[in-house]
Amino acid sequence: MKRVDDFRLKFGKKEYVPLLIGGMGVDISTAELALEAARLGGIGHISDAMVQDVSDRRFDTEFVKEKTKFYKHNIDNSDKSVVQFDLGRLAEATKLHVGHTMEAKRGEGLIFINCMEKLTMNGPRETLQVRLNSALDAGIDGITLSAGLHLGSFALMADHPRFRDAKLGIIVSSVRALQLFLRKTARLDRLPDFVVIEGPLAGGHLGFGMDWAQYDLATIVGEIAQFLKTEQLDIPLIAAGGIFTGSDAVSFLELGAAALQVATRFTVARECGLPSKVKQEYFLASEEDIIVNTVSPTGYPMRMLRNTPAIGSGIRPNCEAYGYLLDGSGGCAYINAYNQQIALHPDGKNISVMDKTCLCTHMRNYNCWTCGSMTYRLKDTTRRLADGSYQELSAEHIFRDYQFSTDQKIALPSELASSI
Ligand SMILES: Cc1cc2nc3c(=O)[nH]c(=O)nc-3n(C[C@H](O)[C@H](O)[C@H](O)COP(=O)(O)O)c2cc1C
Repeated sequence: MKRVDDFRLKFGKKEYVPLLIGGMGVDISTAELALEAARLGGIGHISDAMVQDVSDRRFDTEFVKEKTKFYKHNIDNSDKSVVQFDLGRLAEATKLHVGHTMEAKRGEGLIFINCMEKLTMNGPRETLQVRLNSALDAGIDGITLSAGLHLGSFALMADHPRFRDAKLGIIVSSVRALQLFLRKTARLDRLPDFVVIEGPLAGGHLGFGMDWAQYDLATIVGEIAQFLKTEQLDIPLIAAGGIFTGSDAVSFLELGAAALQVATRFTVARECGLPSKVKQEYFLASEEDIIVNTVSPTGYPMRMLRNTPAIGSGIRPNCEAYGYLLDGSGGCAYINAYNQQIALHPDGKNISVMDKTCLCTHMRNYNCWTCGSMTYRLKDTTRRLADGSYQELSAEHIFRDYQFSTDQKIALPSELASSI
């Protein structure tokens, strides 16, 4: 019976444990979590979502305070188009986050950064260019482009000296999205080093419509593998979404995937950024508690726990401080939804906005409990403590369980030593 450890992900002459911990913004996939994956010979992700706020928390900088002060005059204005990011400050924050993480890296694995195109930041092209190039400047091993088609993203990095040496890849959910990306980047003569195929059971935003349940990861992996074979392209495929055990992982490796990207099992790791109270909510979830809705202002469906505090919250948009989802003209679907409620309740009291949520503020405060569809099984991966709470796990325990388990088994914390 094969184990994940019987396979290796190859980039050139280097080999890695074929396991990536996916990017989870905002700072849910912390540097500590990513560093563990790298130490154990796999690949970890940090995320550049709301990097200025992440830097403030990690390094006591004051990027958010400064930005809020600068745009204070606009807080009561429903038009947010003046709220821009200072590109120099954005570069500084990215370099701090990435640079410190890379300095701390130990072991043979890699650290990538997850970069979402949907963080349009009231200047989609310029801000993305700064985020990508600053991460390369600061020595990131690789970049995973996500939440968008990224048709222009390779070109934004093409002049960087590390454009051809850093590992660059993209997340897609269909063969069509990959075809578009390859067509658009063809003139740069630079293929992606990897393609993550994210199926409909993943956490975070979904690359499907509300008909997501009609799709299936194995089918999409098969279609993309066939397309690459026809085109005679050799790009490692990384399967993601709903892979909960080592045996699930092996089934994708046997299907031709070069590696797996997983996230949900690590949401309850000690190194994960979610507060302990929130991790307990993930443990407690039952299958019916996991829903897919359209409250994200990005326009993508998102999976989350039903009791997520962000759902129905009517807080004032916080774009002067954050503003990561402002489109190129300073708009955001939450601002529109909020303003409609204000028009109905001009006193601004007891406002509830049901159709959209202020994703920046709620993700920042860990009040948007996004999760994968297998979250209801997390309780089976640990032990219940005397006080009724569930024991958090070490990232190493979860990583090694994926790496070595067989027969759909999941090692509980105390049993791990004997299973290796
Ligand atoms: C809490 C959470 C947050 C996530 N945030 C992001 C994100 O910011 N960007 C992204 O590309 N994917 C995000 N994802 C998706 C994961 O990186 C990963 O591809 C996917 O969840 C894998 O499926 P699994 O969770 O079933 O293992 C997130 C997933 C979770 C569970």
